[in-house]
Amino acid sequence: MLEHSPSLILGIETSCDETSAAVVADGRWVRSNIVSSQTDLHARYGGVVPEIAARAHIEQVRPIVEAAVHDAGIHYTDLTAIAVTDGPGLIGSLLVGVTFAKTLAYLHALPLVAVDHIHAHAISAGLAATEGVSIWPAVALVVSGGHTSLYHVHDELHVELLGQTHDDAAGEAFDKVAAILELGYPGGPQIDRLARSGNPKAIAFPRTWLKDERLDFSYSGLKTAVLYHVHGPGRKYGSTEHISPAARADIAASFQAALVEPLVVKTVAAAKRVGVTNITIGGGVAANSALRAELQAAAQRAGLRLYLTPGQFCTDNAAMIAALGYHRFKAGMLAGLALEPRGGLVRETRAPRS
Ligand code: KG4
Ligand code: ZN
Repeated sequence: MLEHSPSLILGIETSCDETSAAVVADGRWVRSNIVSSQTDLHARYGGVVPEIAARAHIEQVRPIVEAAVHDAGIHYTDLTAIAVTDGPGLIGSLLVGVTFAKTLAYLHALPLVAVDHIHAHAISAGLAATEGVSIWPAVALVVSGGHTSLYHVHDELHVELLGQTHDDAAGEAFDKVAAILELGYPGGPQIDRLARSGNPKAIAFPRTWLKDERLDFSYSGLKTAVLYHVHGPGRKYGSTEHISPAARADIAASFQAALVEPLVVKTVAAAKRVGVTNITIGGGVAANSALRAELQAAAQRAGLRLYLTPGQFCTDNAAMIAALGYHRFKAGMLAGLALEPRGGLVRETRAPRS
């Protein structure tokens, strides 16, 4: 019997502040996934500095890609195709990944596939699905530093936008509240940790529902409510020395609860609205322990199945790019060497290109 020879896709991701490369077999089996985070470079500025990010990608992209190919135990000649994030994201950062991918594709005469970063987050739970189990159709919640959106995922290639944030993304709110509390950047993991010792009911921060039937979100009001709680109405960021460690933990837990509740309620409502029984989450904030626990409990109550993306595939990674790249490759959706990155807004205003 002939042995099945897998499609090996090299994924390259440089849309923001992580340089990542991965080799994934048949869109499912992760042979390698290397992520080099630039967090330390940006920490003292309290956020990602685009010019610094692009320069770091230039230094990192070649060693990271070589390490991913090496760790997968293959050579470039074993690859089936190269998949690269072409947007959305920081234009200088995207340009580094796209240019490197085009060069490799040309050098090794390999097909090139362009992948939408948000679309890849939406289907990232597929990287951990049990063999033979299909997650799709499902409702996917994508929550990251730049996006907070609900999608109806018909299958890996067909994704429909159901709702999104009107202002701040969930991850942006985490990062800004962490800055208010002087916890450092990126703020999500710090608040997640601190909140474990706090009381989520200590402060009744506002939940923004917009119109109930809408599957949209808004987080700028919550961020301002935390700011005013810490420094008084109308005040700006400042020292938080006056706040005790216990009060700080209560603020973190109460903020997190106010952020998580609309995400959970609207994800369940979206599943009911479009008539699916599966829900899934992706993006950096999907690593949040409170969100994972609350969504799990709500799914159980509503009779829905929740497919969680494992932590390492929630934050930016190239494995998810290679996975979606595989499905696009199989469907013949190839990019030419004239491929150019799609920069602009990190927060999407439309459905991901599918
Ligand atoms: O998906 P991602 O790595 O990059 C973007 O595409 O934006 O998401 C980064 C965001 C940051 O805002 C970070 O604070 C947040 O994800 N994040 C978390 C956690 N881990 C990362 N937010 C809450 N809890 C976490 N455990
Ligand atoms: Zn992302």
